[in-house]
Amino acid sequence: MKLSTVIVFCFLVLQPFVYGQLDYKFYDSTCPNLTKIVRFGIWSAMANDTRIAASLIRLHFHDCISNECDGSVLLDESSSFESEKNAFPNRKSARGFEVIEQIKTNVEKACPKTVSCADILTMAAREAVFLSGGPYWALAMGRQDSLTANISAANTEIPSPFESLDDIIIKFTKNGFNLKDVVALSGAHTIGFVQCFAFKSRLFDFQGSGAPDPLLDSSLATTLQTQCPNQNESNTNLVPLDPVTISKFDNVYYKNLVNNSGILSSDQALMVDNRTATMVLNYSKNPFLFAIDFGASMVKLSTLGVITGQDGQIRNKCNLVN
Ligand code: HEM
Ligand SMILES: *[C@@H]1O[C@H](CO)[C@@H](O)[C@H](O)[C@H]1NC(C)=O
Ligand SMILES: *[C@@H]1O[C@H](CO)[C@@H](O)[C@H](O)[C@H]1NC(C)=O
Ligand SMILES: *[C@@H]1O[C@H](CO)[C@@H](O)[C@H](O)[C@H]1NC(C)=O
Ligand SMILES: *[C@@H]1O[C@H](CO)[C@@H](O)[C@H](O)[C@H]1NC(C)=O
Ligand SMILES: *[C@@H]1O[C@H](CO)[C@@H](O)[C@H](O)[C@H]1NC(C)=O
Ligand SMILES: *[C@@H]1O[C@H](CO)[C@@H](O)[C@H](O)[C@H]1NC(C)=O
Ligand SMILES: *[C@@H]1O[C@H](CO)[C@@H](O)[C@H](O)[C@H]1NC(C)=O
Repeated sequence: MKLSTVIVFCFLVLQPFVYGQLDYKFYDSTCPNLTKIVRFGIWSAMANDTRIAASLIRLHFHDCISNECDGSVLLDESSSFESEKNAFPNRKSARGFEVIEQIKTNVEKACPKTVSCADILTMAAREAVFLSGGPYWALAMGRQDSLTANISAANTEIPSPFESLDDIIIKFTKNGFNLKDVVALSGAHTIGFVQCFAFKSRLFDFQGSGAPDPLLDSSLATTLQTQCPNQNESNTNLVPLDPVTISKFDNVYYKNLVNNSGILSSDQALMVDNRTATMVLNYSKNPFLFAIDFGASMVKLSTLGVITGQDGQIRNKCNLVN
């Protein structure tokens, strides 16, 4: 039996745990083909651009960790609010908006004015993980879309690769996550890419030492130095977060951390704190454990402060309030 099949089974058994007013059968009668439409949208986007899976997982994370899972990250700038797209962690970095918009268009054709953009983004992240070879989990639906965005929430609540692990942990625990969630969710960095500026300070003159970060494997440091030359022009060059299995959603991210091959210092920091290091070691040896825990933490992520009932709206287009 495939690992993913086992996980589907496990989460189906756990289905009675409904969060807030979200419901596992929310769209069963009003949009029965929803999952198929979203899966096809992600599948065809990935056929054109494998990286889009990673970008959508990150977009969902940014939507939920700042200002809740309410599709606020998808809104364009308006006269009444600044777009979260322009927040520092998202500007020239967040991607996948067109894919969500295309799926939304297809969903509107099948079931008009029924499915929120927040729910589509949540499902998109799940399908992206699954289609990259990762686990699958059951999702409760019924999120509403926000009427506004909050750029300062996006600037202050999304973790930065330049802050300490302790500060990152605070951003997670504030949202009800525990250390295990932090370590498991960080495993999303098993796919996708990062721009050189986010870790370049590790490569050349780390903290004035004249040498690379001692926590970075020296042969990897040499490779990264050629990918990210010591000039400002290389700041936007892209490097894979998991150079070993670039677009496969597996536990190799943790194996990399164990041998000092984490790209971001915030990734490698998980091996420095012995509370998180034991979990990293566990996941590095046990892909099944990682798959289960990642799915459970994603379910938690996808239920952060969701708007249900009449408090939000079902947007007609994901980038605009109706
Ligand atoms: C723990 C704190 C985290 C920090 C400091 C962090 C930081 C970053 C940074 C700096 C990038 C590269 C962005 C760029 O260069 O444009 C990135 C990419 C990414 N992050 Fe995180 N991240 C964190 C947690 C997460 C979580 C919890 C998830 C999802 C569950 C996630 C998913 C991703 C993915 C998939 C990418 C690749 C995106 C792409 O290729 O487009 N990250 N992250
Ligand atoms: C294919 O992917 C590229 C790179 O992300 C993107 O610019 C382009 O719009 C995509 N094309 C289609 C048809 O989705
Ligand atoms: C669902 O998709 C099937 C084809 O895959 C189609 O025959 C059916 O009409 C669709 N149902 C709805 C409610 O859109
Ligand atoms: C926006 O987010 C900031 C930072 O989290 C918060 O202090 C502020 O109250 C939020 N604004 C609104 C209108 O929710
Ligand atoms: C490179 O970037 C740094 C930091 O933004 C800046 O201080 C410096 O002037 C830039 N150097 C050049 C040559 O543009
Ligand atoms: C680190 O671990 C990965 C995955 O097991 C392996 O492919 C890679 O060669 C290792 N790197 C070093 C420097 O040992
Ligand atoms: C973890 O590290 C702290 C401080 O370095 C040390 O006091 C503690 O004994 C360590 N705990 C374990 C379980 O290794
Ligand atoms: C590894 O995970 C298993 C299963 O959750 C757990 O029982 C065990 O305590 C973990 N070990 C460490 C060192 O975290």
